[in-house]
Amino acid sequence: MPLSVKLKESLKVIEDKLGYVPKPKAGLILGSGLGYLADYFEDRVAISYDDIPHFLSSTAIGHAGHLVFGKFQGVDVVAMQGRFHAYEGYDVSDTVYPVYFMKSLGIEGLVLTNAAGGINLEVEPGDLIVIDDMINMAFRNPLIGPNDDTVGPRFPDMSSVLDKKWFKRVEAREKDKGRTLKTGVYVYCLGPNYETPAEIRAFRTLGGDLVGMSTVPEIIAARHCSLKIFGVSCVTNMAAGVLDRKLTHQEVMDTANRVKQKFESLVRIIVEEL
Ligand code: HPA
Repeated sequence: MPLSVKLKESLKVIEDKLGYVPKPKAGLILGSGLGYLADYFEDRVAISYDDIPHFLSSTAIGHAGHLVFGKFQGVDVVAMQGRFHAYEGYDVSDTVYPVYFMKSLGIEGLVLTNAAGGINLEVEPGDLIVIDDMINMAFRNPLIGPNDDTVGPRFPDMSSVLDKKWFKRVEAREKDKGRTLKTGVYVYCLGPNYETPAEIRAFRTLGGDLVGMSTVPEIIAARHCSLKIFGVSCVTNMAAGVLDRKLTHQEVMDTANRVKQKFESLVRIIVEEL
């Protein structure tokens, strides 16, 4: 089925549920343990992915599985409270459908958030790092297959995965508050196992700062359809082998919970500065 037909079917259900045609300016994808942010939206309406045609089901722990509409900092927004991952058994091109859906609603910019492990020894759990480049170690690509030229080019340019102007504005606002924004290279692994210490050492040699199991396919889709991008990783743990202990999903969720205020404050600024 052509993408345009699918998008219309998804929109029809959403319009019926909302009772109006949504016109969000910003889209947000909220990762593991970070979905609570959408609970702060004004005029909030949450729709379960299960009720939206062509959306997958969210099976990952810490991912609520709602598309949430509302206002955040006075800006009309749409947020994914939980995302889809290839490790759930999905085709990676199906996992990025919501990016194209949000684009079809008219969003100008996409804010991507995730929980990540720290590879760079200068980052620490609780840090929020802006993704300024990425390495695709899953070797999965959502654009494989025939290209829809009405959506984007066959060979999208990936020389910048962060909207530099948007970043500069946010950076200036953070500076006013006495904070500096760190940037880093995000390495995408398929998962669902955490990486091995040898893999992490290899990624460090390759120039990776952060590691996670998401976001890269969404960034590829967002570049494909010319969305402005702002990605933020919440360092929830040091990556495998950095510290002499095991990694658990509980640690990831606990750290995400601990940085709630800092994360909320940064995302508010990011949305305002779009
Ligand atoms: N590795 C992969 N994904 C993750 C990690 C990690 O260390 N932490 C949070 N998500």
